[in-house]
Amino acid sequence: MKILILGNMGYVGPSVIDQLRATYPDAELIGHDIGYFAHCLANPSYLPETKLDRQIFGDVRDIPGELFEGMDAVINLAGISNDPMGNKYEEVTLDINFRATIRAAKLAKDKGVKNFVFASSCSMYGLADDSPRKESDKLNPLTAYARSKVMAEENLEPLAANDFVVTCLRFATACGWSSRFRLDLVLNDFVAGALVNKQISILSDGTPWRPMINTKDMARAIDWGVSREASNGGKFLAVNAGSNDWNNKIYALAEATASVIPGVDISVNPHAPPDKRSYRANFDLFKKLAPNHQPKEDLLSTVNEIKTNLVEMNFNDPNYRNSQFIRLKVLGLLQSKGLLSSNLQWVKSAGHR
Ligand SMILES: NC(=O)c1ccc[n+]([C@@H]2O[C@H](COP(=O)([O-])OP(=O)(O)OC[C@H]3O[C@@H](n4cnc5c(N)ncnc54)[C@H](O)[C@@H]3O)[C@@H](O)[C@H]2O)c1
Repeated sequence: MKILILGNMGYVGPSVIDQLRATYPDAELIGHDIGYFAHCLANPSYLPETKLDRQIFGDVRDIPGELFEGMDAVINLAGISNDPMGNKYEEVTLDINFRATIRAAKLAKDKGVKNFVFASSCSMYGLADDSPRKESDKLNPLTAYARSKVMAEENLEPLAANDFVVTCLRFATACGWSSRFRLDLVLNDFVAGALVNKQISILSDGTPWRPMINTKDMARAIDWGVSREASNGGKFLAVNAGSNDWNNKIYALAEATASVIPGVDISVNPHAPPDKRSYRANFDLFKKLAPNHQPKEDLLSTVNEIKTNLVEMNFNDPNYRNSQFIRLKVLGLLQSKGLLSSNLQWVKSAGHR
């Protein structure tokens, strides 16, 4: 088994490497990443990429076709991966998340790759009524990020064939621990705030629905996509990836956090403009098609996992919303130092430090 993982050096990548190594101990695993956040480690005891056979630094926008030669499966995690970054770098987001994804899929198909797994997002449901969104429901992408995922899915579909099986996993919002931990994700932010500031400050009024998934469970779903047969879900499949038990209102996430870390104030922002994103997702199809790769983590175990790891690394930055654990800040800092150009390419001659 030979698997190429694009965008492996982010938040989700380390869990994917762990999962694939466990399922395929002898597989050849190759990572490819531009390395925007390679340095943003949360004090792991080893570099996650050491479990790979090879790490390649490169830009997925001009990835060479030869890299796909001999691969059985390609997983595409590479992307500008949230709404704030998508808003700031709108055209780059379309280039990387949509155009580069289609280019990579075409190269993979040309080279005889059997499975292509795309990290899509439930955020394409945008604002929905209270009934959980099914895959066949109307999409309502409200941001550049969500639009880029919709365009990628739409243009992946015609490429799919019985010998080129495409799986788009529409992930719920990620949470949980990672060697490249993030604090720009709602549950992770709540746990850090509770721990360091004894305060959970909800940026909205707390009422929006937000399905969640632990990164380890994302990796389990990706593992399923890597070997999915066309007979199980079709040659092209876009499926909500998560669990019906993990549809929560934002306020409930704060309450769960406060139940694990007592003595915490929860504040909402009554003056915040209404959060434009609120949706529940229906995960029945994923349960039916992937019964052996269902989420195993739950909300309280995830809060505990984040808490334990933050305590272990002596995390005590009260100003963490401006730290290297916020991806938008990292990109801004790299640009302000002249290390990244306006279209997020490395300026190799910059930064003699
Ligand atoms: N985190 C979530 O809540 C969530 C939810 C649903 C879907 N997803 C999707 O899953 C994927 C992985 O998410 P993540 O949280 O690990 O994101 P991340 O931002 O932490 O990691 C993305 C990785 O892609 C790499 N990358 C970006 N542009 C690149 C380029 N031009 N060439 C090569 N590499 C490039 C980055 O360097 C980074 O290592 C993303 O596509 C994201 O949209 C994430």
